[in-house]
Amino acid sequence: MSMIEQEVINNIRNGVDIVDIISNYIPLIPRGKNYFGVCPFHDDKNPSMSVSKDKQIYTCFSCGATGNVFKFMMDYEHISFPESLKRCADIAGIPLNISINKESNYANKYSELYEIYDLGYKFYQNNINTINGKEAKDYLKSRQINDEMIKHFGIGLALDDCKILTNLLIKKKYDSKHLIQSGLVIKNEYGLSDIFKDRIMFPIEDINGRVVGFSGRIYRGDDMAKYINTKETDIFKKGELLYNFNRAKEECRLSGQVIVMEGQMDVIRAYSIGVKNVVATLGTAVTKQQALLIKKMAKEIIICFDGDIAGAKGTMACANELIDVGVIPKVIRLEDNLDPDDYIKKHGNKFLSKINNPMNVMDFKLSYLKHNIDLNDSEDMAKYVNTIIEELNKIDDEILREITIKKISEESKLDIEFLKSKLSPVPNDIVIPIKKEKISVKENKYQKAQKYLIFYMLRNKDVIKIYNKKITYMPTEKYRYLAYEIGLFYKENGYIDIADLISSLTDNEDLLKVIGELESLNLKDEYTLDEIDDYINTIKEFNINYQIKRLEEKMRKEDDALEKAKIADEIIKLKKGESND
Ligand code: CTP
Ligand code: MN
Repeated sequence: MSMIEQEVINNIRNGVDIVDIISNYIPLIPRGKNYFGVCPFHDDKNPSMSVSKDKQIYTCFSCGATGNVFKFMMDYEHISFPESLKRCADIAGIPLNISINKESNYANKYSELYEIYDLGYKFYQNNINTINGKEAKDYLKSRQINDEMIKHFGIGLALDDCKILTNLLIKKKYDSKHLIQSGLVIKNEYGLSDIFKDRIMFPIEDINGRVVGFSGRIYRGDDMAKYINTKETDIFKKGELLYNFNRAKEECRLSGQVIVMEGQMDVIRAYSIGVKNVVATLGTAVTKQQALLIKKMAKEIIICFDGDIAGAKGTMACANELIDVGVIPKVIRLEDNLDPDDYIKKHGNKFLSKINNPMNVMDFKLSYLKHNIDLNDSEDMAKYVNTIIEELNKIDDEILREITIKKISEESKLDIEFLKSKLSPVPNDIVIPIKKEKISVKENKYQKAQKYLIFYMLRNKDVIKIYNKKITYMPTEKYRYLAYEIGLFYKENGYIDIADLISSLTDNEDLLKVIGELESLNLKDEYTLDEIDDYINTIKEFNINYQIKRLEEKMRKEDDALEKAKIADEIIKLKKGESND
């Protein structure tokens, strides 16, 4: 990052408008001077993210996420700072020649594990193309997976011999501790050996496209377990990733739609008929993190799980997880218990019309909940209606509520108004007022003085100058760091601008949160010098009191009378305000 000059970065930032860019990802509603949208960085249901056209920054009043246009892209798209810079430069039409290095700090910490995975990945891929891979290839061919698909999805093969990969890794001088940690190597009474053997290997990538795990499928022999997956490691957390996320994300963004399936075979099959905006949960129950990831991928979310009962159950759970993070998904159900893989093989492009006509989530729930109950039985009917009401309460789409109520009224012959009275009210204000800083009685004047002072330092270089001249120290650590960064930015650039300052802080989540906290104060932009003086004096007062306290402590412990007198003298000076500031 240091290779790119601050000025270039600032020019690129000035060449785009944060409101335009964020609008490409989430709908923004203008309100007063700012724009508001549903925050994509936490499970927001109401628009709590404010985007300022003036300041070119965003702040979420609920989770504190704060940043400029680069930071938004980085966090939304899971890309690096240089990558976000490059994208903005392209949008702004500013030539920028940088090579994008995908390494991050996180990557360095686990570089051994990533390397081991990379080697394993290449090794498995190589195997499948050798003579030993013939049977595996035949198997894949029988499942209509051709060479192009094998390559695209990086499919490989773990060999029958259970030591080859292990020995290769040992030869590369990896520590046995790391090898075992990686989940590719196991230690038993015979020493170290490969965990995966004689399996077709599907690499699983993290959200940045790096191989972090494998799902290995049997293709011959009689092993009981159809799939074996890598155990969870520091870099492989199944609940935090989605199969095919990285390959699909651009496709999803462009089409505005993401299709969620269960298995990798389903994703690969969909790809074969040109449907590329697909991810898979890999058979596990969808977690909240996965739901948040899916939510960010596209506006329209379609759940297309297996057509069997287990798939219906999974659809229900996935839908609820998504509703919980504030999005209402659509649903596709496949006939004859088929999974997407088999369905597409059998019906081909008919699958496309399924995608074009997904079910409404409530219609799915109605049919799911009707399953196995007898609607002629009053008790069953009561249970059914109650459950639907419960499900409806999770949704705040009023039209969908209305439609569903009509439907269950017809089914149950219960009065519409009666049914409606059972619903909890929809939080009907689309725009939630900004959460005002809770003015706790306890918030002391020193905290306030620091916050207010920095708020204006972020806006005006004159305030920075005053700060530099009169105060050397902010009592509270986080404010001290931020004040330091502001001072540094001003020293290097000769001006202050929040959005440009943030460019140099994109890795510093803590300080960005502090900026967010200050921005949420929503103070007026104008200030008087008297006010600034007040804050300065308050902070000084704190610092002096603090010094006095320390000296008094020191004096108490001092035995030497002369020394004691000296300290007392210092204290008096401080109290009189004669000390150096
Ligand atoms: N899965 C798993 N372990 C298993 C079974 C399944 O990890 N023992 C995961 C796999 O990622 C699989 C997904 O759950 O892709 C869905 O399971 P399933 O529907 O049984 O597999 P299919 O996708 O139908 O795989 P195949 O067509 O190869 O049988
Ligand atoms: Mn399946």
